Amino acid sequence: MKHKTVEVKNVLRTQAMFENLQSRSMITPGIGLIHGPSGFGKTTTVTYMFNELTLSGHQPLYVRCYATDTASSILARIMNEMGADPMFPLRKMVDYIIRNMNEKGLALFVDEADHIVGQAKTMETIRDLYDSTEQPVVLIGMEEIARRISHRKQLFNRISEWVEFKAADIEDVNLFAIELLDERVKVAEDLLEYIRSKSAGEVRRILIALEKIERAALASDEDYVDLHSWGDRPLFLSHRR
Ligand SMILES: Nc1ncnc2c1ncn2[C@@H]1O[C@H](COP(=O)(O)OP(=O)(O)OP(=O)(O)O)[C@@H](O)[C@H]1O
Ligand SMILES: [Mg+2]
Repeated sequence: MKHKTVEVKNVLRTQAMFENLQSRSMITPGIGLIHGPSGFGKTTTVTYMFNELTLSGHQPLYVRCYATDTASSILARIMNEMGADPMFPLRKMVDYIIRNMNEKGLALFVDEADHIVGQAKTMETIRDLYDSTEQPVVLIGMEEIARRISHRKQLFNRISEWVEFKAADIEDVNLFAIELLDERVKVAEDLLEYIRSKSAGEVRRILIALEKIERAALASDEDYVDLHSWGDRPLFLSHRR
């Protein structure tokens, strides 16, 4: 399997969302939300965009949240991203980050935001960063985040862009196969459709299945695999017959 990010629909929608945030008018708020189930490609997409932005000279800030995070540890991680040491009291870090975001026009991506959405102080700190810089801030999380954030009115009112990650459709699965599989291996439409339905459109599981087929095909010199020739060989980790 090749290692690259495939520009499936969720990726294109996320790119469009970020462009909207960057080019928004002064009256439109600038917080974006990306949400969807585990394994659908949210982190991969944001990392891909991070790299693209970096190449075009607009490197954003990216922080991933952890279960044990507090406002203090998140701020320290953002400082670290900026190449600076933590400062105390917290207000000093907030000031430093705001100054840097303003001077350099830095957008902020906060991945795994589910871990902090229940913490009023941390969420208000992120809102403070947005309010004082008006740089795009993008929160990324799972299904629950959309519902839980809707209860935080002050933050919720500043969200102007949403992307809900959808299950991969057959076009997406086709694109993964074309772009990621070894050129010697062709997977038939019926097997791709089987993968799509059994994986429930979860990218992580789709790629596991494609990799299995690729390995088996290369090992046995098959250049075309369809549902019939695949037979009852297992495709997914959880697959039981
Ligand atoms: N567009 C893509 N192109 C190539 N590989 C992808 C793509 N999207 C996802 N993947 C692969 O699928 C796997 C799961 O993706 P990812 O970790 O980004 O999901 P996630 O939505 O962030 O999940 P979680 O909520 O568990 O963090 C990764 O191993 C990644 O390599
Ligand atoms: Mg993720």
